[in-house]
Amino acid sequence: MRSLYISKHGGPDVLDVRDAADPVPGPGEVRVRIEACGLNFAEVSARVGLYPDAPKPPCVLGYEAAGVVDQLGEGVDDLAIGTRVVCMKRFGAHADVLCTARALVVEIPDEMSFDDAAALPVNYLTAFHMLFVVANLRPKQTLLLHMAAGGVGVAVLQLARTVEDVTIFGTASGPKHDFIRDLGCNHPIDYRTADYGAEVMRLTGGKGVDLILDPLGGKDWKRNYKLLRPVGKLIVFGFANAVQGEKRNMLKVVHQLMSTPLFTPLSLMDSNRCVAGVNMGHLWDELELLSWELAKVIELYREGHVRPHVDATFPFSQAAEAHRYIQGRKNVGKVVLHPD
Ligand SMILES: NC(=O)c1ccc[n+]([C@@H]2O[C@H](COP(=O)([O-])OP(=O)(O)OC[C@H]3O[C@@H](n4cnc5c(N)ncnc54)[C@H](OP(=O)(O)O)[C@@H]3O)[C@@H](O)[C@H]2O)c1
Repeated sequence: MRSLYISKHGGPDVLDVRDAADPVPGPGEVRVRIEACGLNFAEVSARVGLYPDAPKPPCVLGYEAAGVVDQLGEGVDDLAIGTRVVCMKRFGAHADVLCTARALVVEIPDEMSFDDAAALPVNYLTAFHMLFVVANLRPKQTLLLHMAAGGVGVAVLQLARTVEDVTIFGTASGPKHDFIRDLGCNHPIDYRTADYGAEVMRLTGGKGVDLILDPLGGKDWKRNYKLLRPVGKLIVFGFANAVQGEKRNMLKVVHQLMSTPLFTPLSLMDSNRCVAGVNMGHLWDELELLSWELAKVIELYREGHVRPHVDATFPFSQAAEAHRYIQGRKNVGKVVLHPD
């Protein structure tokens, strides 16, 4: 097998491709020959050394991939060899073959490409989980979405459109505004040139919004909490503000950590607001929930609501360029890797 390694923490040049013997599926596992894998902000953060969940380098990361079933472990009798599938794994999906639990392997429709399939799990499960499991988004509500043109952002825009009359405010760089507007973002806001908080308050007549999805962290969590209307929910699900530059900068990380607000139960009660956290990477033991969410996302794909936007693909040998593409904020939607 060939796998994409992070050899040590550092700039994109620490990535390399290594060979090893093919893995053998254990009981209850399925082996999949991989055609495409999703690259996420998480792996970029891990390379920099700012993703606490990641194993110590040298390590192979990757949570999601798509390919063809080529071996079944003991006890798996409900999947045929040769089936086209999408699968999830807790690290190690950036490889040309992987073994994972049967519950985390789902057959994909014939018309779905491997690239589209590999773009689904992390982005769409995170979006689905936040909107429908944690927030219970309802018609006529207002939503503020940050990093709206990224992989999770695109997924949130498409899924939020399945609920009637939701008004969406989305932050993204100016050149990406037409793209997110086409996906249903009513009010794109260029956070580089405008104060997004002031814009949201102006556009809502000072009321604020019902739901905020915030993967930025630090001082933005404080700012966003203040933009909630009564009964509003702030869902925190990332700390992108800590990842600045190709290498880790502890001064900036500490500064962001020190800007993090503290929410007390009494202040939450008195302001009628909710703060919730989502980390899909800590839900691996909830196999039933994850496989249900993945099946729901595939159903929404079949119904035409879900359409991953694969912006760029890179072979493993050019993974450094793929990381630079995301860190340079060039991507709109998903970046996919191909084994080579
Ligand atoms: N908790 C979870 O379970 C979970 C799951 C998935 C993702 N996440 C988090 O969700 C966030 C979005 O992930 P994603 O995979 O959708 O991201 P992505 O596709 O890599 O999006 C990158 C885009 O985000 C914008 N951006 C804003 N701040 C940035 C920064 N500091 N560095 C680089 N880009 C920045 C840029 O667009 P503009 O040019 O428009 O600024 C960039 O093009 C990340 O923080 C990630 O860690 C959390």
